[in-house]
Amino acid sequence: MQSEKHADELLARIRVHGAVPRHVAIIMDGNGRWARERLLPRPLGHRSGMKSVRAVVEGALQVGVEWLSLFAFSQENWQRPATEVGALMSLLEEYIAREVDELREKGVRVRVLGDLDRLTPNAAAAVDRVERETAHNDRLTLNLFISYGSRAEILRAARLLAQDVAAGRLAPEDVDEETFAARLYTHDCPDPDLLIRTSGELRVSNFLLWQIAYTELYISSVLWPDFGRRELFEAVVAYQNRERRFGRVSA
Ligand code: FPP
Repeated sequence: MQSEKHADELLARIRVHGAVPRHVAIIMDGNGRWARERLLPRPLGHRSGMKSVRAVVEGALQVGVEWLSLFAFSQENWQRPATEVGALMSLLEEYIAREVDELREKGVRVRVLGDLDRLTPNAAAAVDRVERETAHNDRLTLNLFISYGSRAEILRAARLLAQDVAAGRLAPEDVDEETFAARLYTHDCPDPDLLIRTSGELRVSNFLLWQIAYTELYISSVLWPDFGRRELFEAVVAYQNRERRFGRVSA
C-alpha cells in the first residue's frame, strides 16, 4: 500500500536522524466528527479510533519510543450521554481482551492512570488484568489515561503533600518540584518530549498540564480514526527538526 510504503520511508529517515522522543503523549480527538462525516453513530467513530491505538502502539515500538501516553477518557467525558460512556467503557474492555496477548509478547507494559474508582466493575477487572499481565515488560510503557483530568491530578498531589506535612513526614521547605512530581500519577515517567493532538484543535484540554512545561507540541489536522503509523512518523520527523532550548539560548 502507498501509505505503508511512505510510513516505512519516514521510519528509515527517523532512524538515520537518530533523535527519538523518549515519551510521546497524544490527545486522540475527532472520533465523533469522523463518524458524523460518514453518517454513523459516534460510538462507531470510537471503535475505529481503537484501530488507530493499535497502529500507534506498533509505530511507537518501531521508532523506539519508551513511553506512550494516550488520553482515552477525560473526567469531563463522564458527562456525555450514557450510551456513549457505556460504549467507551465496553471498548476499553474489548481493547484489553483483544490486545493483551500481543502487548505482552511485544514487551509493552500497560498502565491505566486516572480516577479509576468510577470505572464499571467489568472495566476495572479488565484494567487489573492488563496491568498484571504486562507488569514485567520494559520495552514500551503504554499509559492509558482514563477518567483523567490534570487539575484533579495536581490537586490530588497537593493533598498528598499536605497530608505528609501535617503528619510531620515532610517539612514545608522540602516541598519542591521533585517532591510534587513524585505524587503525580506519572511519578516514574520522564516528562513528554512530544505532545500530539489530532483533529486540528489548538487546545491542551486539561491533559498533563504540569508535565508538558517544556514539551514540543504538534497539531495534526487528521481525525483520530485516520491517524496511523505514517501520521505518527510525520510527527516524529517534525520533532526531529525542532530545536529544544528549555528556556536557554541556542548552542
Ligand atoms: C475524542 O473524540 C476521543 C475520545 C473521547 C475517546 C478516545 C477513545 C478511543 C480512541 C477508543 C478507545 C481507546 C482505547 C484505548 C480503548 P471526540 O469524541 O471528542 O471527537 P469529536 O471532537 O469529533 O466529537
